[in-house]
Amino acid sequence: MAAGGDIVADVALDGPGARLLGFAISRTVPPEGEILTIAVDAAFRRHGVGGILLREHLARIAAKGVKTLFLEVDEGNAPALKLYRRFGFQQVGVRAGYYAKKDGSRATALVMRADLD
Ligand SMILES: CC(C)(COP(=O)(O)OP(=O)(O)OC[C@H]1O[C@@H](n2cnc3c(N)ncnc32)[C@H](O)[C@@H]1OP(=O)(O)O)[C@@H](O)C(=O)NCCC(=O)NCCS
Repeated sequence: MAAGGDIVADVALDGPGARLLGFAISRTVPPEGEILTIAVDAAFRRHGVGGILLREHLARIAAKGVKTLFLEVDEGNAPALKLYRRFGFQQVGVRAGYYAKKDGSRATALVMRADLD
């Protein structure tokens, strides 16, 4: 993807206290974009927050003219892989040794792609 672009960030808040439950950040260079990260507070995972957040985030990115979206994810990150696949992301590449782990070893990243409607 070309350098530069706009940063798009969305947050998920709970109603009453406006506590931050999660956030998603992407870089957009229409017609392409890249999800930089998405995270949900560990205490609120597995309740669908990530799915709601990603659905809203993808809609906003699509409205900015992005047709193709990429991301990189640790091949061992089962929750993230499940979430991304649910939204139509498919593996298009592999980057061996891409992530440095705390124990000094390195983890493989999968490059995934989705086409936005
Ligand atoms: C990835 C992440 C954002 C998902 O948030 P979430 O609010 O739990 O998402 P959801 O509840 O909408 O969905 C999570 C899915 O992962 C599944 N899941 C959760 N833990 C899992 C595990 N250990 N193994 C397999 N699947 C798992 C859930 O069952 C759910 O899938 P389903 O709806 O088909 O059942 C969250 O786990 C997170 O913040 N992880 C740490 C940050 C991170 O790794 N981000 C991705 C960077 S690329």
